[in-house]
Amino acid sequence: MNISVFGLGYVGAVSLACLAKEGHQVIGVDIDSTKLALLESGKSPVIEAGMPELVQEVVESGRVKLTASTQEAIAQTNLSFVCVGTPSQSNGNQDQTAVLRLTEQLGEALKSKNDRHTIVFRSTLIPGTVINTLIPILEKYSGKANGIDFDVCFQPEFLREGTSIKDYYKPPFTVAGLSSDKPKAIFEQLFSGLPAEIIYTDIATAETMKYFCNIFHALKITFANEVARLCESVQVDPHAVMDLICKDKQLNISSAYMKPGFSFGGSCLPKDLRAINYIAKQNDVDIPMLKAVLASNRVHLDLALQKIVQSGLKKIGFIGLSFKTGTDDLRESPLVDLAEKLIGKGYALKIYDPEVNISKLIGANKNFIETSIPHIGSLMTTDYENLLQTSEIVVVGISDSNLISTLIKTSRNEQVILDLVNIKERDQINAKYIGICWQ
Ligand SMILES: NC(=O)c1ccc[n+]([C@@H]2O[C@H](COP(=O)([O-])OP(=O)(O)OC[C@H]3O[C@@H](n4cnc5c(N)ncnc54)[C@H](O)[C@@H]3O)[C@@H](O)[C@H]2O)c1
Repeated sequence: MNISVFGLGYVGAVSLACLAKEGHQVIGVDIDSTKLALLESGKSPVIEAGMPELVQEVVESGRVKLTASTQEAIAQTNLSFVCVGTPSQSNGNQDQTAVLRLTEQLGEALKSKNDRHTIVFRSTLIPGTVINTLIPILEKYSGKANGIDFDVCFQPEFLREGTSIKDYYKPPFTVAGLSSDKPKAIFEQLFSGLPAEIIYTDIATAETMKYFCNIFHALKITFANEVARLCESVQVDPHAVMDLICKDKQLNISSAYMKPGFSFGGSCLPKDLRAINYIAKQNDVDIPMLKAVLASNRVHLDLALQKIVQSGLKKIGFIGLSFKTGTDDLRESPLVDLAEKLIGKGYALKIYDPEVNISKLIGANKNFIETSIPHIGSLMTTDYENLLQTSEIVVVGISDSNLISTLIKTSRNEQVILDLVNIKERDQINAKYIGICWQ
């Protein structure tokens, strides 16, 4: 293929070298004449393992051309990768100066091009940038239309400095954000040889997931370091602790607990967080991230409350009361908290939970209802259908497939359903549907 790469920093220079190594004709474009001159003479513009040898090899092969002219690069290629820098402004916002200026030039260059061209943005871009800003700029400056005269995609880059050539050949996956199916053939041609799945999604999802990949890495490092600070204060080896934590691939290093939903609760997580934060306080150890976890959990609970209040409806039916599906444990259940807040505000509540049937409850939970939340116990019903018929807003707090299929069958236009559990069949619901953080 004939490919142009705009921006020859870490991402662009490595892409240029690897694409040329794969046999493609590649034109590198940068506004920095030093980088162009270095590459021209077969030298790498970035310090990276393997790059000096690779750059020398591909430049000698004659498959690499360099230019400062956007016009020339667009005219001579049919696919462009945009890898210009997107640093921080002093207020934290993303500085898009380089990508905006380049996109105007790309639009200008497309004006005089007859063949269909594909532009793949690889710079990290804040969600919505490609659709709301960059495609309109390209269309304005070219006088042409995305999806007809040219195609725009977003492909997040996952390479790590220091191992970027290795990462190019073995990425975790290839994610391609598309606005039409047409460019799929290009991704198949370029990346199907890599040992990684190609996943197609929409552009905004691809932009957003890149941010949260990096943020997750930052969060993991901070977690390990906060664990270490706490460990040091109690004379425990943090390496041994983290090694053991990472050995559990079932609950720890896995997709468990990684699904958007409602606040956490139950008999363990809140109390154990409180205990560790108390030890930190006692030992003068600062662990701001772990300290913020319960506060963030409360913000999430308040969001559910806010959505119910905003609906303006007063008769509420709860599906679920325990802290998660399949248990009768009510201790520190966020649904109990939510119910208490609503009762306090004067809402009429009916609650159905198949596992929390007062007549069947025994032991600690029976005692908990009778002594700690008797006012909630009295709102529990065993007549699920009646709850659905009489509630203006139904809050779905557990994901029981039988209960959800009855809910779908009986739902009516004037009703609102607040989903805290991500109901998969939501398009079959006849009521107004609100997800806690999704539509
Ligand atoms: N560095 C990484 O490890 C890494 C990994 C994944 C994603 N990213 C993202 O990739 C993007 C590039 O990162 P980087 O570290 O390679 O950046 P960089 O700052 O090293 O390089 C950017 C290059 O773009 C050039 N440039 C600026 N305006 C230009 C224009 N109009 N035309 C042509 N070239 C122009 C600059 O001269 C510079 O050489 C960023 O959005 C970054 O967030 C970086």
